[in-house]
Amino acid sequence: MFTWRCLILWAVLVTAALSAARPAPTLPDQDALPSAEDDDDEDDSSSEEKEADNTKPNQAVAPYWTYPEKMEKKLHAVPAAKTVKFKCPSGGTPNPTLRWLKNGKEFKPDHRIGGYKVRYATWSIIMDSVVPSDKGNYTCIVENKYGSINHTYQLDVVERSPHRPILQAGLPANKTVALGSNVEFVCKVYSDPQPHIQWLKHIEVNGSKIGPDNLPYVQILKVTWVRGGQ
Ligand SMILES: *[C@@H]1O[C@H](CO)[C@@H](O)[C@H](O)[C@H]1NC(C)=O
Ligand SMILES: *[C@@H]1O[C@H](CO)[C@@H](O)[C@H](O)[C@H]1NC(C)=O
Ligand SMILES: *[C@@H]1O[C@H](CO)[C@@H](O)[C@H](O)[C@H]1NC(C)=O
Ligand SMILES: *[C@@H]1O[C@H](CO)[C@@H](O)[C@H](O)[C@H]1NC(C)=O
Repeated sequence: MFTWRCLILWAVLVTAALSAARPAPTLPDQDALPSAEDDDDEDDSSSEEKEADNTKPNQAVAPYWTYPEKMEKKLHAVPAAKTVKFKCPSGGTPNPTLRWLKNGKEFKPDHRIGGYKVRYATWSIIMDSVVPSDKGNYTCIVENKYGSINHTYQLDVVERSPHRPILQAGLPANKTVALGSNVEFVCKVYSDPQPHIQWLKHIEVNGSKIGPDNLPYVQILKVTWVRGGQ
């Protein structure tokens, strides 16, 4: 037992030491391969190391883009449910801060279902499983005391999202009407695919509301197929 732990610890330490000793790349274009879209984070952290090597600690350097060619594609049309990653790889001394805006306003993780991640080491924002409401303009702001730069990406979420329909809360509402008058119930459905809507009335069969299968007894009053959005 004890020996095993030591071995594992030893292995972890050796792995850590090896990766720390990994030399920084020397070719400036190493990180700018055409397949920039889905490059992993390791890639970028090595560019950071290189950044640190090239700048003197006491220099005052306003923020600048380290890979502007990676930022050329501004409009990203992405299928729903995909993961989106925008990057603003930057340099500067002191090391600049990074923040993101959506449509020019402060963007907080609780502004979207599932939030987002910011990877400061790779100057990126990551949104998992995008939905149509994620469409918009995303601006990175990179700042230090010597300057501020920003860049805006436009996200379009294409393709239909396979979400179940959303019913507007509070509808259909209870109604009290005079005997003999008409009554109308309204249900608002938000659905991207064409929703199938049924109106059911709960009924009693043999004095019971629930059948032997544990499902309520219902009578179908109306069936509709609604075209499009709402
Ligand atoms: C995003 O930016 C584009 C291009 O500047 C603009 O046409 C569009 O209206 C903006 N969208 C939003 C939601 O602000
Ligand atoms: C982005 O940069 C432009 C040009 O420097 C500047 O005019 C604008 O105010 C900046 N936007 C933000 C949100 O910082
Ligand atoms: C509607 O009426 C039912 C039956 O009286 C009741 O249980 C329910 O709470 C009412 N709903 C609302 C939103 O008032
Ligand atoms: C209702 O009761 C009758 C008589 O007991 C029976 O024949 C019938 O099958 C019952 N219906 C249902 C839906 O259980």
